[in-house]
Amino acid sequence: MGSIKILPDLLVSQIAAGEVVERPASALKELLENSLDSGATSISVHLQEGGTKLIRVADNGKGIAREDLALALRRHATSKISTLEELHSIRSLGFRGEALASIAAVSKLELFSRMASEDHGWKIGSNSPDPVPSSRATGTTVEVSDLYFNTPARRKFLKSAATEFSHCLDVFRRIALSSPGTAFSLQHNGKALQQYSASTLEGRISEILGNEFAEAAFSVEESSSGLSIRGMAARPVYSSSTRDAQFFFVNGRFVRDKLLNHALKQAYQDVLHHQRHPAFALFLTISPGEIDVNVHPAKTEIRFRESRAVHQFVFHALEKGLSPPVALRPATTREIPVAYPVQKKMDLGVAFYEKLFEQHFEEKPAAAEDFPLGFAIGQLSGVYILAQNSQGLVVVDMHAAHERVVYEKLKTSSGQFPMQPLLVPATFSSTPLESETAQENRDLLLELGFDISPLSPTTIVVRAVPALLKNADAMPLARAVLKEIMEYGATRAVAEKRNELLATMACHGAVRAKRMLTLHEMDALLREMEQTERSGQCNHGRPTWFQMTLSELDKLFMRGK
Ligand SMILES: Nc1ncnc2c1ncn2[C@@H]1O[C@H](COP(=O)(O)OP(=O)(O)OP(=O)(O)O)[C@@H](O)[C@H]1O
Ligand SMILES: [Mg+2]
Repeated sequence: MGSIKILPDLLVSQIAAGEVVERPASALKELLENSLDSGATSISVHLQEGGTKLIRVADNGKGIAREDLALALRRHATSKISTLEELHSIRSLGFRGEALASIAAVSKLELFSRMASEDHGWKIGSNSPDPVPSSRATGTTVEVSDLYFNTPARRKFLKSAATEFSHCLDVFRRIALSSPGTAFSLQHNGKALQQYSASTLEGRISEILGNEFAEAAFSVEESSSGLSIRGMAARPVYSSSTRDAQFFFVNGRFVRDKLLNHALKQAYQDVLHHQRHPAFALFLTISPGEIDVNVHPAKTEIRFRESRAVHQFVFHALEKGLSPPVALRPATTREIPVAYPVQKKMDLGVAFYEKLFEQHFEEKPAAAEDFPLGFAIGQLSGVYILAQNSQGLVVVDMHAAHERVVYEKLKTSSGQFPMQPLLVPATFSSTPLESETAQENRDLLLELGFDISPLSPTTIVVRAVPALLKNADAMPLARAVLKEIMEYGATRAVAEKRNELLATMACHGAVRAKRMLTLHEMDALLREMEQTERSGQCNHGRPTWFQMTLSELDKLFMRGK
């Protein structure tokens, strides 16, 4: 029994139709989507010369009935929808009944298929418009040769085989990512290049985005009122200067969506340097009636009915993973030798903290768990603070951590920042543009806690800096702030970039490497880090501290073996 039907004209007129075969990769995408829609669990792809000579996609899906083969190549013929209601709640990747017809119009196409109920397969193609018997297992193979052989104008726009291949590879990886339960293989010019066996979502993500990504990523898994999101997103340490590792799927469909991008950007905004891009593979599931995929012929754009709710949901799911509280595992009660503060074996439980705390503050701590980052034991090469907590060793990048603390403080203070007048005002020679900027933005600078004014077109004086940054070197700090304001131009633009401006200030206000700190100062910084949201990363997305547990140390020394 055939199941492909020609869509009624009224429905056809509702479908966002148009060009689909922009280049070999677009044909490959359509063929792979058809295979997934057919329920295939194994799909193999053969390409020649970047897909320009040959694209062959073979699957083990449910196949096409003999009487449907010719229909499959007809325009507006589909088995996936038949009514307007179905167009409004699409569950398949395809729905327009256009792809095969469009590809067949610009290439030599052959279609081989066999349903499980048949004894053998059938083939149709350019040379055999009527099905002829063909031996094959259940499933479908589509062979597309000589793309654009009949449209020289299009052929001229093809790039080199290597470029077209790299586009095909992108499509292949994207589709493989979307269906971890399906096995995929890829050959190019007879060489086996990629092979993915059926896997879990996490397994497939690691295979495609690489182990480095997987190690730097956290799992995302949230659901609420009809929406759910799964996948992995990298901590900002693993950011990239390109957008190569950004995969967002909605109901299994790879999409590029402004709303989703915005939600992600916002979640990463405070922890990622603005020229870096986050890396993620995320899968949103939503009731098909809540989205419209019939927006663009390439089907990579969608519209959400409740766009605000989706934005909020995605933003919160990501933000949650990006700013976990500084929570470490519970204190062990194991006996270990410690070198500090006393040279004897002692219990690393609450008593230990009490002892330590007495030494530092001569006061009893409320509870040991209040100090997950432990207590400083020294400074390494002027750059790192070494601290000891119940887990073992904590190593803190002093400058990065302080920068984050200062930034969060600046960000949360409202109104005019308290000023710290300089005992000796700092003057520096300036360009006329710097002087003009200082003059024009005097109010804004005052609000930020700076008293900066031009003495002459070539001299600027700094009389006060924000109290939070009182230890900063006033001149480079003032220069950096002026430079940034100049770059943003109008005051309105500055308001939008306020956080970036604060980040610049924080960077200058944070302790420089090589500054020796006392144990008290170091402990004070650790306490501030514990109080600060997102203190685990500096404003540029680098980590600010890490933990080395006693068992990791034990392993290094092969203890207990
Ligand atoms: N690999 C396949 N396995 C089983 N059936 C297939 C396969 N490829 C195509 N078909 C059948 O052929 C029909 C036409 O495919 P085509 O890709 O042209 O349209 P579509 O997938 O329905 O919609 P769209 O144009 O949005 O892709 C499909 O509806 C499906 O019934
Ligand atoms: Mg299709």
